[in-house]
Amino acid sequence: MREVTPRKIIGMKGKEKIAMVTAYDYPSALLADKAGMDIVFVGDSVGMVVYGEENTLNVSMEQMVFHTRAVAKAVKRALVLADMPFGSYEVSVEEGVKNAVKLIQAGADAVKIEGGYDHEKLVRKLVRMGIPVMGHTGLTPQRYLRLGGYRLMGESEDEIEEILRDAKALEKAGAFAVVLEFTLADVAKLVTEEVSIPTIGIGSGPWVDGQVLVWHDLLGVYENVPPFVKRYANLAGIIQLALENYRGEVKAGEFPGKEHYWEFLDKDDFRRKAGRALERLGKE
Ligand code: KIV
Repeated sequence: MREVTPRKIIGMKGKEKIAMVTAYDYPSALLADKAGMDIVFVGDSVGMVVYGEENTLNVSMEQMVFHTRAVAKAVKRALVLADMPFGSYEVSVEEGVKNAVKLIQAGADAVKIEGGYDHEKLVRKLVRMGIPVMGHTGLTPQRYLRLGGYRLMGESEDEIEEILRDAKALEKAGAFAVVLEFTLADVAKLVTEEVSIPTIGIGSGPWVDGQVLVWHDLLGVYENVPPFVKRYANLAGIIQLALENYRGEVKAGEFPGKEHYWEFLDKDDFRRKAGRALERLGKE
């Protein structure tokens, strides 16, 4: 069992901020764990940042299982959380349970679903089975067609009520935390005060129990990022420069250098061996 458990995450509320980041493969998960993240999250954002999709609606269970397996192999300390993709839990509780089990068997410690109130039954069932669940409200990208795109949530009374209803339903059903995505900060603060489980914000301001960002966004892999993202590095610039240098050295015949290859020190020895090998081939 990894050091960071859902119980530990719940205990952090009001005491220590929770740091969560997405990761989709072995090397990025290794680095995230080494950086001391509390939660390493295999998000369905993989569809957009790894597979170049326009939204998360085409991500399959198969993809989530593959990526979860790679991440789980790398992470020793943090809690490994895996996203349930669109269509994998909405049809029936039974289907949701079956798919959550696949993610746990791939090495996840917990699963995340979008929504709350609509999935109370599923959350209760999973928790009873021993599968920890994180909910997700505010902007729920899997409902992006209905929402009419990715937009700030919680301006109207109805939206505030919906967000609160989701968070409270998740708490009641036994979820161990809830993601609040792209809500007005005051709404996130209200939810954080109203529920006993930790709230983890993304684009929802500072008055929450933790923060999550997408790996590629915070490391500056892409030019276009959501407006709430802070870039902590410019990986695209670093990678681009390295690739251009490599290409340039190949074209100029500068790579490989002396330190990157091995040759016969005795060229006569080589000529003899090569001559015999060619002769043998000629006889075949
Ligand atoms: O898939 C994802 O990366 C997410 C985060 C935005 C929380 O759900």
